[in-house]
Amino acid sequence: MFVCPVCAGALVRGEREYRCPAGHSYDIAREGYVHLLPANRKHSKSPGDDREMVAARSRFLDGGWYEPLRKALCALALEALPRGGAALDAGCGEGYYTEGVVRAFQGAGRPLEAAGVDLSKFALKRAARRVREAAFAVASVYRLPVAAETADLVIDCFSPLAAEEYRRVLRPGGTFLYVVPGGDHLMEMKRVLYDEVYENPEERTLYEGFSYVDVTPVRSRFTLPDSKSIMDLFGMTPYAWKTPKAGVERLRAAASLTVTASFAIHAFRRL
Ligand SMILES: C[S@@+](CC[C@H](N)C(=O)[O-])C[C@H]1O[C@@H](n2cnc3c(N)ncnc32)[C@H](O)[C@@H]1O
Ligand SMILES: [Zn+2]
Repeated sequence: MFVCPVCAGALVRGEREYRCPAGHSYDIAREGYVHLLPANRKHSKSPGDDREMVAARSRFLDGGWYEPLRKALCALALEALPRGGAALDAGCGEGYYTEGVVRAFQGAGRPLEAAGVDLSKFALKRAARRVREAAFAVASVYRLPVAAETADLVIDCFSPLAAEEYRRVLRPGGTFLYVVPGGDHLMEMKRVLYDEVYENPEERTLYEGFSYVDVTPVRSRFTLPDSKSIMDLFGMTPYAWKTPKAGVERLRAAASLTVTASFAIHAFRRL
């Protein structure tokens, strides 16, 4: 699914590298991902989530706490591609959801060409090891190394939204699934962190070039049994960057925490 970031020619995957018809080549890392972010687009040495954040998120996701979301997302992906097709996970992180989708299509006996991009090589190292069947590239969602109108499905789960790019790479009639936090997502954790808490806005936003299909809410409640799992979850939220110290200390002191996980999966059709 990937194209050359220099000349936009189709990349062909070899044993050790991807190569375009013009002869540009990109090494495949030991773990199996490829670096397709042009050097002049890198704003820091290691952009995207850092090693610690990625490790915390992996531990948390592997705990299975967000499995209801993964199941719902897989069901919608299967519904969107009754005969299989090409799916792109934009901002795929460690590939937890990418893997779910790949396995769901395997289970249904439908062909799926799956790819994931993320800015973080630390995330992709894990993703590429986790799902050997999918192709992974270090790239920005704002400049996807993917040809126009080649994807049947784009998934964006908690990652920066690049609606224009998603529209470009989707074929007409293709589906875009956008996962965002629901109104009361992690409300109990917010109450520990802040004196005043607000619900996330729940809105249906229309993006140019798409029709709005539906929203699927996903809710669950679970009890994190120890400080480690609580702090892992905290580390993957945006609160990790902006919470005053006292709030973080209150959370760190909690021995267990029951939280509501609430998500909205917005589905769009590319016009
Ligand atoms: C909250 S995480 C979600 C990861 C994954 N989708 C999940 O739900 O487990 C956001 C991800 O977006 C990545 N990211 C941030 N800015 C990006 C960009 N411009 N292009 C691609 N990925 C980006 C980060 O590295 C991180 O892995
Ligand atoms: Zn090229």
